[in-house]
Amino acid sequence: MIEFLREPLRVAVVGLGYWGPNLVRNLHEVEDAEVAWICDLDTDALEVIGRRYPAVKRTTRIEDVLGDDSVDAVAIATPVTTHSPLATAALEAGKHVFVEKPLAASSQEATALIELADQKGLILMPGHTFLYSPAVNMVAEMIRSGELGEIYFISTSRVNLGLHQKDVSVAWDLGPHDFSILRYWLEETPSHVSALARSCVIADTPDVAFINLEFASGPVAHVEIAWLAPTKLRRTTICGSRKMVVYDDTSNEPVRVFDSGVAIPNPETFGEYKLTYRTGDILSPRVAAAEPLHVELTDFCSSIRSGVAPRSSASIGLEVVRMIEAVDASLARGGARANVPDAGRALAN
Ligand SMILES: NC(=O)c1ccc[n+]([C@@H]2O[C@H](COP(=O)([O-])OP(=O)(O)OC[C@H]3O[C@@H](n4cnc5c(N)ncnc54)[C@H](O)[C@@H]3O)[C@@H](O)[C@H]2O)c1
Repeated sequence: MIEFLREPLRVAVVGLGYWGPNLVRNLHEVEDAEVAWICDLDTDALEVIGRRYPAVKRTTRIEDVLGDDSVDAVAIATPVTTHSPLATAALEAGKHVFVEKPLAASSQEATALIELADQKGLILMPGHTFLYSPAVNMVAEMIRSGELGEIYFISTSRVNLGLHQKDVSVAWDLGPHDFSILRYWLEETPSHVSALARSCVIADTPDVAFINLEFASGPVAHVEIAWLAPTKLRRTTICGSRKMVVYDDTSNEPVRVFDSGVAIPNPETFGEYKLTYRTGDILSPRVAAAEPLHVELTDFCSSIRSGVAPRSSASIGLEVVRMIEAVDASLARGGARANVPDAGRALAN
């Protein structure tokens, strides 16, 4: 990619609702970035955030951002159904794009975005923030090094009260977090999913879902997600043949490693064997305090400079969208097992 890039990179943030202000704050702190514009249809949101950053230009029209030749990149934090049209317009205008998770509202849209970014030689990055969490990376390292042994299963709960999204189900809103983490840890897309969900508050908008995932190499996973729960849980158990880990994103000990397990001393004598249970030490390693969003946006800027795909790559974004579509396909067939298309296929970007 041969192009002139300013120092620091000039980035516009589109969408200043619940999440967008976090992008603005973190981009201000990323060394290689400068917030050039903030953009939202809502003038009140523009006023509130604009007051904090008086030097940053404000607009309700994305056309103003896209028509500014001094803008290198656009970061999009708008509702899911607007991701594809806004990201397409930004790529067409020659801007690198960071778009909040999920990458798009369908795999067709996600594929079209990837093709457009490739054609234009631009970076397209979905915001799978947890891939930049120090705790998630610590667990990834334990899995990859073999410390946990064979991964038998992973079970995860991501529930709290709200926030109900207007345009998508809980699977499209919270699902991308666990799906991207599982994909990253196991370095594999599940082959099949099956799901059970209920729309408790708003008709036809599931706000609770229980999702089972099967991976061709062996592991199975269960993901529980809900916008309805009395307490906030962000808890994942990874059960390996050697060790087990509890990753709790709400705890001040986010990673706890249990030297626990079970062994069959002599599997040949099936029927006569005695299982040996092992409950050894529990270790709570120190986890770095870095803010994942800061690391993520730094990776976006590095990618723009190097032309190398970020860790949260567009291909992972597409795989996550395919996983959510498989959840919808399972729900449409009363919870039947649904195939995840192209599972495990690695894409270039
Ligand atoms: N990475 C994370 O951990 C994380 C956390 C929360 C939300 N998100 C993602 O961030 C995105 C936004 O979620 P939210 O909860 O902030 O939504 P929100 O509804 O609170 O905010 C969306 C904002 O976008 C604005 N908007 C809508 N269409 C626009 C357009 N065409 N041009 C300019 N502005 C427009 C709205 O006025 C609103 O202010 C979603 O994709 C969501 O999945 C990511």
